Amino acid sequence: MAEARLRWLLPLGLSLAVLVPLGVLWQRSLIPGSLSVLDMGVPDFGTGTVFGASAHDHHGEAGTSVTDLVDAPNRPADVTVDLRADAAQLEIAGRPVQGFTVNGTSPGPTIRAQQGQLVEVRFTNGSVPGGATLHWHGVDVPNAMDGVAGVTQDAVDVGHSFTYRFVASRAGTYWYHSHQVSHRQVIGGLLGALVVSPAGDATPSETGDVVAIAHTYAGFRTINGQAGDLRVAAAPGDRVRVRVVNTDNATLPLWADQPVTLAALDGSEVNRPTPLTGVMVGVAAGGRADLLVDVPAAGAARVQLSKSTAVIVGADGVEPPPPSQPSSWLDLLSYGSPLATTLDPTRPDRSFSYRMTQQPGFVRGRPGVWWAINGQLYPQLPMFMVRQGELVAVHFDNQTTETHPMHLHGHHLLVLARNHQPASGSPWWTDSLDVLPGENYDVVFWATNPGLWMDHCHNLDHAKDGMITHLAYEGVTTPFRLGGDHLNEPE
Ligand code: C2O
Ligand code: CU
Repeated sequence: MAEARLRWLLPLGLSLAVLVPLGVLWQRSLIPGSLSVLDMGVPDFGTGTVFGASAHDHHGEAGTSVTDLVDAPNRPADVTVDLRADAAQLEIAGRPVQGFTVNGTSPGPTIRAQQGQLVEVRFTNGSVPGGATLHWHGVDVPNAMDGVAGVTQDAVDVGHSFTYRFVASRAGTYWYHSHQVSHRQVIGGLLGALVVSPAGDATPSETGDVVAIAHTYAGFRTINGQAGDLRVAAAPGDRVRVRVVNTDNATLPLWADQPVTLAALDGSEVNRPTPLTGVMVGVAAGGRADLLVDVPAAGAARVQLSKSTAVIVGADGVEPPPPSQPSSWLDLLSYGSPLATTLDPTRPDRSFSYRMTQQPGFVRGRPGVWWAINGQLYPQLPMFMVRQGELVAVHFDNQTTETHPMHLHGHHLLVLARNHQPASGSPWWTDSLDVLPGENYDVVFWATNPGLWMDHCHNLDHAKDGMITHLAYEGVTTPFRLGGDHLNEPE
């Protein structure tokens, strides 16, 4: 009798021993209909001072709301742009592709400003279902202007508008894109370029300046929305700056049929760059590379953006053949020349570990093997806590089988070392850093831009699967919610 009971109790007990913890894991992976980002993360103070509960007490009165973190609210704008986003059918390589436009095209218009100007963009959602926003990738905007749905604002519903204002304080190549359901909206083309030229135009040696947005629509590689090559008219002896923007999810390789110079990376000028031969430049997802192309006497230079598309700079009708693809990559760790800085990056106030692994479990209730950060799955991910003014070190360690282009909003990372080998070239400032499988990087940033900032993988399919964390400054709170009435979903 007792034995018979044991016969069914034992398996039942064993099943429960497996199912109950699984159920708990499943339950923990679900996202409530409305959630503050401050409740999502697990506070991580790294090696620095742990500060009071008030930093996390967003229900209290204390603290600064993200909405108060703005630039010069009374200063008149120098550059004013109206942008309207729509869901639209695009025509790519003669085929219809469902996507998005900004002012009727994808990519949208390139915004040009001078360093120091105040840029004001009136953004209207014409017809993007589920709402849209604009994020200024690589620009250290004030937090209220960061465009992250559910963190710094609500998604802009159809028929509604939001005005972005920021001072373009650094010259360089940047881009804008929606940060609502980005894995669909960015991939569908809700994006465009932003070019900030140096104050007083310090580049008289350049005779031309062109943007080349590399984007793949439904499997078709394009430059500036067109399948095929981009032709840039220029005369022999001209020097043209080609601003390559990689808006895809994977690394974009660049190479040319003659020496070209990598003048800037992610909006930061390289110190004393040398002409490149026989190597590829790898542009991380979200990253930008400014190439200086000198038009040869032969009439035209050819820069490959991957195997399938090219920028041809020179006389019309000259068609240089595709150069063969180099087998090695430019190592940015040793490119250009070091520059003495007044800021000492070697004594951080706080150090964080950002270890990426793959782990079985549940994300949003779905079983699978998911991206984990410091051993945790979305949404139990670290919330990196900092105080304003700190020098912050991050150790990225990619123990997964795929590349992760790491993007911290609102800040620039300075690379100190890769696999413990110190950087020896130009200061390497980046906002989109490819961390390859098995690689680790030591980077620092100065925490001088208070707010709640996403710190995520810019392979947007990885982000959608939970490869996102946040950086939170002490005392900053948000009135916005993930989910909620506006269905905010930044990934
Ligand atoms: Cu280019 Cu979080 O974005
Ligand atoms: Cu990734």
